[in-house]
Amino acid sequence: MKALILFSSRDGQTRQIAATIANTLKARQECDLVNILHASSVDWSQYDRVLIGASIRYGHFHPQVAKFVKQNLAEIRQRASGFFSVNLTARKPEKRTPQTNAYTRKFLLQSPWEPDCCAVFAGALRYPLYGFFDRIMIQLIMRMTGGETDASKEVEYTNWDQVNRFAHEFAALTGKM
Ligand SMILES: Cc1cc2nc3c(=O)[nH]c(=O)nc-3n(C[C@H](O)[C@H](O)[C@H](O)COP(=O)(O)O)c2cc1C
Repeated sequence: MKALILFSSRDGQTRQIAATIANTLKARQECDLVNILHASSVDWSQYDRVLIGASIRYGHFHPQVAKFVKQNLAEIRQRASGFFSVNLTARKPEKRTPQTNAYTRKFLLQSPWEPDCCAVFAGALRYPLYGFFDRIMIQLIMRMTGGETDASKEVEYTNWDQVNRFAHEFAALTGKM
């Protein structure tokens, strides 16, 4: 049986985190890494564990994340499962847990799914990648929250040790099948 890792990523940071977790997992188990936007029909018979990772944009996860969970709830519940979220609020360590990160707490409260493990990772700030409107908006948010405002900068806040610890936690989950 394989592990399925699904990601929702706009600028690539969540995909990179998911790929890092997949690499760690591959030492134990075969693993498929799939964009959740391209996961309309999953052959669940291949998988005994599933991980979903998603980033935040303007306060929200991509709607496909909740939709996928709803449509595949029975299959997800039968397997060892994990969830991680990626956002810039989590650059502050006190906002980097499922309980203290508002986006993640809200998602878990509203979701019928209770993942067996969950993490919040700080994402990346990549001003040169953003279009005019997004750059101005992110600058404004960073100014209000005491973050980087220099629009020539790219800053990666992701703590890769935390990602690796979570990968091991997910890999060690007891199977349900
Ligand atoms: C247009 C835009 C809006 C964002 N909105 C939020 C937000 O509301 N809250 C937050 O904490 N981070 C926000 N972020 C930060 C992203 O979550 C962060 O850059 C993350 O690394 C993006 O992951 P991705 O590359 O996988 O899409 C935003 C980033 C962009 C570019």
